[in-house]
Amino acid sequence: MSTLKTVSSWQQEPKGGPGCDATDLGFARALLAGLTKEHKSVPSRFFYDKRGSELFEEITELPEYYLTRTETAILTENAEAIRKQTPAGSLLVEFGSGSSTKTEILLETLDRLAGYVAIDISPAALDEASQRLRKRFPELPIYTVVGNFSSPMRLPEQFLSVPKLGFFPGSTIGNLERDEAVSLLSNMREILGPGSRLIVGADLKKDREILQRAYDDSEGVTAQFNLNLLARANRELGTDFDLASFKHQAAYNEAEGRMESYLVSTKDQSVRILGQEINFSAGERMHTENSHKYEIEEFHKLCCSAGWAIQNVCTDDDRLFSVHVLQNTA
Ligand code: TRP
Repeated sequence: MSTLKTVSSWQQEPKGGPGCDATDLGFARALLAGLTKEHKSVPSRFFYDKRGSELFEEITELPEYYLTRTETAILTENAEAIRKQTPAGSLLVEFGSGSSTKTEILLETLDRLAGYVAIDISPAALDEASQRLRKRFPELPIYTVVGNFSSPMRLPEQFLSVPKLGFFPGSTIGNLERDEAVSLLSNMREILGPGSRLIVGADLKKDREILQRAYDDSEGVTAQFNLNLLARANRELGTDFDLASFKHQAAYNEAEGRMESYLVSTKDQSVRILGQEINFSAGERMHTENSHKYEIEEFHKLCCSAGWAIQNVCTDDDRLFSVHVLQNTA
């Protein structure tokens, strides 16, 4: 028998984390706030409207964007080892499940799961994914939670004494500042509870040429993805950004160990948002995303600061990407 529920009674207090407040007014206000700062920026949580999600799908299929394909290969290669370390009757909890594509690798391999809890900010993504998974795994109880996991959340009572396995793939952790990453990991540890484990993906430091190509591909899909922030503002807020006079820029910041993405104004121009005029000078840029890259030891320190112990780490032969198995020994 299949169980499909949307549990809305779980305690959640959205407070300004990734993805919340993505209403039109929220978008307009956030855009205005970002563009009136001394160093202009646009919050990256607005990337993923329908068009943005399609473009990101395309990015993941680009030859230059090694991240998704490498992480998928690592998970496939190590699925059997993960199965052996996972007690029967565990609950799989995914943070930011999106299309739940990589989850299928675990669901295929892990046996006798108590259930799968998918947490995401997009109800549409949860619907689509849970319908697909319900067909493919008719025996599996699936629970969807629309929400943000950067604040406390309680798993349903019936799972209190069930072993938990958390799943946070995709190097999403890299989009956070280091201190934010520590608080998120520690919040996940609180949600999952004592004795739980967490599988988390992190992109590794590497030759900057490889990084550069991954974040500025030859077909210009990443450029379109980044520019979609402005296209989205034009669509939803009626702004008049001239897309032809902003360019995508990706740069590796060695000191911070991260790829930084920007939109650069190619001329002096101005745009109105909520009745306010925003001026751009030629060459001025707005920051849109950070993608932190880690050394394995550096990432382990960060996990330890969040109270996790390291159980295992898996990488590909070229050491492009890493998947970590963390344990809450508390
Ligand atoms: N957040 C993802 C990453 O850091 C998505 C991404 C890929 C991205 N290319 C980008 C975000 C370019 C902004 C700009 O890999």
